[in-house]
Amino acid sequence: MARPGSLLLMTDTAHANTELAARLTIDVVDGGGASGTMAEDVLAGLTAERKQLPPKYFYDDAGSRLFEQITELPEYYPTRAERELLEETADGLMAGLRPVEIVELGAGSSAKTRRLLSAPTAHEHLRRFVPMDVSREIVESSALGLLRDYPYLSVHGVIGDFERHLGRIPQALGRRLVLFLGGTIGNLHPPERTAFLTGVRGLLGPGDRVLIGLDLVKDVPTMEAAYNDAAGVTAAFNRNMLWAINRELGANFDPDAFAHRAFFNAEESRIEMHLVPSVAQEVSAPDIPLHVTIRPTETIWTESSYKFTVASIEEMLTGAGLRLEHCYTNEHPDRRFALALAAPA
Ligand code: SAH
Ligand code: AVI
Repeated sequence: MARPGSLLLMTDTAHANTELAARLTIDVVDGGGASGTMAEDVLAGLTAERKQLPPKYFYDDAGSRLFEQITELPEYYPTRAERELLEETADGLMAGLRPVEIVELGAGSSAKTRRLLSAPTAHEHLRRFVPMDVSREIVESSALGLLRDYPYLSVHGVIGDFERHLGRIPQALGRRLVLFLGGTIGNLHPPERTAFLTGVRGLLGPGDRVLIGLDLVKDVPTMEAAYNDAAGVTAAFNRNMLWAINRELGANFDPDAFAHRAFFNAEESRIEMHLVPSVAQEVSAPDIPLHVTIRPTETIWTESSYKFTVASIEEMLTGAGLRLEHCYTNEHPDRRFALALAAPA
């Protein structure tokens, strides 16, 4: 039999859960994020002359967890560098802009975003947080944590693809700050990036702003080490895409028979990640239908991570109808990462 004390506790917990639920909305677009397009993307990517797969398929539940581990690796400097920049800028940005809502694209765990939500003025003006991500589990778990920790906030999550579903971001409640952190902009090739940023421009009214995290070009060993960590977490993250495709499409990849390869392509200013088979693999997924041979002389190109300069950031924003208002960079020991604050041009 429950003691009166624990009964009281259960009632309190139920009440707290009802209160949290009242502040939470989750919209799932097209059955959820990336899953709707996986079959056609995999078929097109693996039958192309240069075999490739889109990086959004890294982020199933296991992949999202592996990415969170990457952010803590000694070699992976971008997360730490961006966190430092947010530490320096968050209070001033929030006090200056006084946003009523923050929309975060590719939000993931929103761990760094907490620095903005914790700014001293946030509770005076901020009412809603709108995280968008293809990964449902990570948005739901981060939303619950945010609702618990920020009682003034409501959360409206959108499980969708930021390249296809920006139109599903709810109508603005007031002045908006859009975030695109982590350097994820670098995972888009230039034409897709311009199309995406033009879409983001469409989310902004006259007083609104977008804050974008971008990794900067630096010495090649530092960049390459960040994608070739000694513990092999990035290699597991890379191979995880094949496990996800096996599960979702009934494919028969042997992920462990693929080596991880990551290097800086200076001409294109990007880190490229590839999977290289150690022996020829016959891969099929009967439902698509896919049947290809992947040989050790070729690779599957799974990700590009473009690295920028302040000049290339400005040029990219201008091309999408945005005006660079301020570019914050880490100065010591070098310019590692940038936070670009942009307004509609
Ligand atoms: N912003 C977080 C996470 C970066 S990892 C940070 O700074 O740490 C990239 C995130 O973008 C992942 O959570 C992934 O699920 C999401 N993502 C990747 N491609 C996406 C797409 N096309 N649409 C929506 N989310 C995407
Ligand atoms: C999410 N994105 C910015 C990461 C990057 O650095 O390009 C993904 C990643 N790939 C390997 N390590 C981390």
